[in-house]
Amino acid sequence: MGRIKRLLTPELLFASAWVGLIVASVAMIAASHFAVSGEFELPWQSTAVPSILVLAAFALHSLHLRRYRAVLLQLAEDSKSKSKQLAELVDSLPECMFFFRHGVGTLVNIRLQQELAVVDESTNWDSLLKWIHPLDRLFFLNTLVRSEDEKRSFSVDIRHEISEGVHRYFECHGSPVFDHEGEFVHLAVFLVEVTERVENQRWIQQQNRELEEALHALSENFEATVTALIKAVDAKDPYTRGHSERVKQYSMMLGEAVNLRDDQMQILEMGALIHDIGKIGVPDEILTKPGALTDEEFAIIKRHPVIGYQMIADIPLFEKCCAIVRDHHEKLNGRGYPNGIAGDEIPTLVRIVTIADIFDALTSTRSYRGSMSLDKALEILGKESDQGALDRDLVNVFSELIIKVGIIPSSDDSLAA
Ligand SMILES: [Fe+2]
Repeated sequence: MGRIKRLLTPELLFASAWVGLIVASVAMIAASHFAVSGEFELPWQSTAVPSILVLAAFALHSLHLRRYRAVLLQLAEDSKSKSKQLAELVDSLPECMFFFRHGVGTLVNIRLQQELAVVDESTNWDSLLKWIHPLDRLFFLNTLVRSEDEKRSFSVDIRHEISEGVHRYFECHGSPVFDHEGEFVHLAVFLVEVTERVENQRWIQQQNRELEEALHALSENFEATVTALIKAVDAKDPYTRGHSERVKQYSMMLGEAVNLRDDQMQILEMGALIHDIGKIGVPDEILTKPGALTDEEFAIIKRHPVIGYQMIADIPLFEKCCAIVRDHHEKLNGRGYPNGIAGDEIPTLVRIVTIADIFDALTSTRSYRGSMSLDKALEILGKESDQGALDRDLVNVFSELIIKVGIIPSSDDSLAA
């Protein structure tokens, strides 16, 4: 519009000039007429001057017409040239695109025409709509119309069905195009094929699903394996049946009370559950002996943490539980076994399981004694912490906790009685 105005401004000046000359000459002729009948004199003495002005006006008008025709031809040529340049630009794009205005596609580029397999431009728009999957068609068209009305960008996904159940996928991005004076021209819509990306994403999702299923199966197998191992330990000594599960529950209660992280809680849970797994390697007659153990028998019992450690040390899934299995009979004052480690050498998770293990052992019926009361068991834990064997803070927290929730009942009441 600006260029048109610039081109037409001289034309307006031309028109004003020749119209002005004619008006002036008519005014002079009229003035001459009145001068004849009146008594005043005019500056000019003949009709030659108005005649000259009229001739000049016609000459100017003639020039103006010629120039005006040239300007219109120039504008038409410019418009044609620009349209051609735009079409060439659009056709040179490697992606499919079209323009959209007044509810229809106005210019479909060659790439999109190839995609649609059409040669007749008049059928481009209908072909494009038919080319889009029927389930996406109405939504796509509505999006275009709304975007044109609101003159805003949009981005939608559409499908093209190659054969039944086989699709190609396209991202459609549209933007309103404005001229330099801000007038809306059309929507420019690009179609970018993303079939390979979509299929890759689906393949990755399928792989992830299969991986999750495999992990779930592995996890179930792992849990079943751990359960079988714990049952194997329990089966060796009816008096300790359920001990591992109760130690796990006491440990989890204490761990939660001291705000362990989730990952620490997971290690604590598994470690507490399998802490006595090494008892599989201890002869049944020693584990179930009703009377006092000889020094030799006690030495064999004391090997179970190391046996358990050796059982799981090379299994990655148990790797983080190794310290709990190996060190759950160690004491902070260095008077525990198997290695007599002390203080900071014993991590918090191990200290928790040690307290839970001792408490459950005291409050459960054993082959060599009956079960103790909660108060008596807590008294012994208190003495152990006084002697520096157990973590005093953890014992205090555990004592407060266990007074509230009570002893976890044994699964075999006949033994506990
Ligand atoms: Fe143990």
